[in-house]
Amino acid sequence: MSKKHAGGQQKEAKLAVVIMAAGKGTRLKSRKPKVLHEVGGATLLSHVVSAASGVVEAKDIFTVVGHEADRVRKAVADSGTQFVEQTQQRGTGHAIQAALGSIADYENVLVLSGDVPLIRAETIERLWRFHQKENAAMTILTAAPENPAGYGRVVRRTNDSAEVESIVEDEALTPQQRSIQEINSGIYTFTTSALETHLGDLKANNARGELYLTDMAGALRGAGKRVVGVQAEEAAEVLGANTIAELAELDARMRATTANRLMAAGVTIYRPDTCVIDAGVEVEADAIIEPFVQLLGRTRIGAETRVRSYSVIENCTVGDRVMIRQSCVLTDSSVGDGADIGPFARIRPGCEIGEDVHIGNFVEVKKSKLHAGVKAGHLAYLGDAEIGEQTNIGAGVITCNYDGVRKHATRIGKNVFVGSDSTLVAPIAVADGAYIGAGSCITKDVPAGALAVARGRQVTKEGWAEARRARRKAQEQG
Ligand code: UD1
Ligand code: CA
Repeated sequence: MSKKHAGGQQKEAKLAVVIMAAGKGTRLKSRKPKVLHEVGGATLLSHVVSAASGVVEAKDIFTVVGHEADRVRKAVADSGTQFVEQTQQRGTGHAIQAALGSIADYENVLVLSGDVPLIRAETIERLWRFHQKENAAMTILTAAPENPAGYGRVVRRTNDSAEVESIVEDEALTPQQRSIQEINSGIYTFTTSALETHLGDLKANNARGELYLTDMAGALRGAGKRVVGVQAEEAAEVLGANTIAELAELDARMRATTANRLMAAGVTIYRPDTCVIDAGVEVEADAIIEPFVQLLGRTRIGAETRVRSYSVIENCTVGDRVMIRQSCVLTDSSVGDGADIGPFARIRPGCEIGEDVHIGNFVEVKKSKLHAGVKAGHLAYLGDAEIGEQTNIGAGVITCNYDGVRKHATRIGKNVFVGSDSTLVAPIAVADGAYIGAGSCITKDVPAGALAVARGRQVTKEGWAEARRARRKAQEQG
């Protein structure tokens, strides 16, 4: 990007990106600002910001915020991009007016809509290149979707011309114009000077009483400036979302794209339409994803791992050849190669599940490290624990990690056998090779190789039951 020259005439950088995201999204009938609704596991705005970040540096991206500005700012704060405030939302033209002061140093401005989230960096690049090649004052990214209803339509000067006469909003279409298939995507490039000279001329004499950025096409044409349109290769990429139903459609499209990307890389996904897979998820070849699985956030699944139906895995790293059986919930944790988990297991945040660990049904693990080969086959709670290699945790074992005020750690060594239905009252340590008798309530540390039994001794009274029955019979007869 060129530096400002001595005369001060030279613009500082070639291209600024402005993302319009100040609107309320009235048609969604939601309290949440539209651009914070999610598709494919991330907010609409964050998708647009990432696409823009593929074209210019973060410092050259300006998001126009207004409705719930602070909430919107926070949502993309870590992107390092800039913000512009549009205090009243008086239309898309008004949004760009609000941004003008911040972008005066750039020669050109590429405008994106915060509610058109499937746009790819490649397409933005293509629009930008076309704008430069055509030497235009305004270049419109257009598309020809199957159903153009609701969108602004692009009126070309002639049928096969790159030049555009005007954009007509859906509500203002004449009956003849209604048959126009080419829509305005709400994505444009302008020369900054064209905006500076003509944005002030916009009038709110339209159905919504707003300043429409789309009117810039006709205004610039009227002033003899060059306005051109370039059509996106895939109409799906520029679909907007004004209603919840449209959001659901974009979500499905984005997830289908993700599933197709994974399948192309060798992952088997049965019934991909039933799976919910976020855009950032990575799965290695020969993994199998069964129907109705959710893979969310930054989840990574290794090769030849199988995730069975109804499991929900969020922000986890799962190794190779792992079996996650039906209906498991795994969050913010890692699972080593060859582990076998579930069905109905819950791995809560902060777990490191080692290689070849077996976790069976109705086992809950929280913030615990299970070394290689640990087995906890049934009905256990393991929290704030470290469990050594090859240790066996019996059915119904519970780490009592909470004293009502604080959490305490449980340390269990390797090759330990914890008998069924034992409670381990933390803080507590059980050293290597120790053996804990079933039904024990362990409150003192157990040394290596020891047997600890902490339960009431069994009392057996011979003939007691027989005698009791006899007594009762005698009472009834008497
Ligand atoms: C707009 C276009 C329409 C195009 C469609 C593509 C106008 C007048 N019409 O219609 O031609 O086919 O996009 O999706 O531009 N916004 C602000 N401040 C405002 C108003 C809106 O920042 O004062 C933001 C919104 O948050 C939204 C974007 O601008 O992200 C577009 O606004 P929206 O009201 O959704 O425009 P559409 O009716 O979809
Ligand atoms: Ca819209």
